[in-house]
Amino acid sequence: MAENILIENDGSVQLIIINRPDKLNALNKQTIEEIGDAVRTADASQEITAIIITGSGQKAFVAGADISEFANFNGKEAHALSQKGQSTLFNVVENCHTPVIAAVNGFALGGGLELAMSCHIRVASDNAKMGLPEVTLGVIPGYGGTQRLAQLAGKGKAMELIMTADMIDANEAYRIGLVNQVTSQDELLTTAKKMAHKISRNSSVAIGKAIQSINDGFRDGVNGFESEIKHFGDCFDTADFKEGTTAFLEKRKPNFPGN
Ligand code: COA
Repeated sequence: MAENILIENDGSVQLIIINRPDKLNALNKQTIEEIGDAVRTADASQEITAIIITGSGQKAFVAGADISEFANFNGKEAHALSQKGQSTLFNVVENCHTPVIAAVNGFALGGGLELAMSCHIRVASDNAKMGLPEVTLGVIPGYGGTQRLAQLAGKGKAMELIMTADMIDANEAYRIGLVNQVTSQDELLTTAKKMAHKISRNSSVAIGKAIQSINDGFRDGVNGFESEIKHFGDCFDTADFKEGTTAFLEKRKPNFPGN
């Protein structure tokens, strides 16, 4: 039984709510494992078509990795922490076949922004504050932040935000391409759910293959164009493709079987 997250279903959309509001939802080891397990379970389920990750309370999405847990670590322990976190959670979210939307409802700092950036899409409330303040602690982002911020906002912005440790607001995050949409806090979950349900009406098989192809373009030693050719071809052998094309020709809405 998970202690630090709550799970709610809205039809076929699953909400994973990080629930340590008294610690601004900081990611300790257990929380990282619980979110990772929940994402893996949802991804394996035929019933779940989209996932939303958000924080509980009005103040924070996630205010970072739990500083109290690693303050006394040595280099070897920190190396293991970073490696385990990336493989247990951050890479799992990014490579999930089911679309994952971050609903950023307040502070998304350090590991919190890194978690949001590992999601496929980010929607932020207008009170959100984002940043990678690790250098103020004498460390660098360790859950993929140096890579994903540069991918999303460009190398120059990543250099600036990481070196200055500046916190930016939701509108600036939107301006630099870090978030896809900004909304009021009241509307945040409705907006994220609306997007999730819209995505869910499309072919889940095709969406999974699109996620893989896009991610492959950012992988060392993998040619994204070759990956696209493979996944494009594979789509033609799926029931979703048969249904999608048949429905178009019959002038009706598709009812995708999801395989
Ligand atoms: N790790 C562990 N605990 C954290 C935390 C983190 N990353 N961020 C917040 N908390 C805890 C605080 O220690 C405090 O706990 P306490 O009440 O038991 O003392 C509680 O959450 C509330 O935080 P507080 O600092 O009192 O709230 P605030 O509104 O004054 O400030 C922040 C909010 C986000 C500016 C501030 O909490 C902060 O700077 N957090 C750390 C951000 C960071 O450096 N993240 C990167 C980590 S690698």
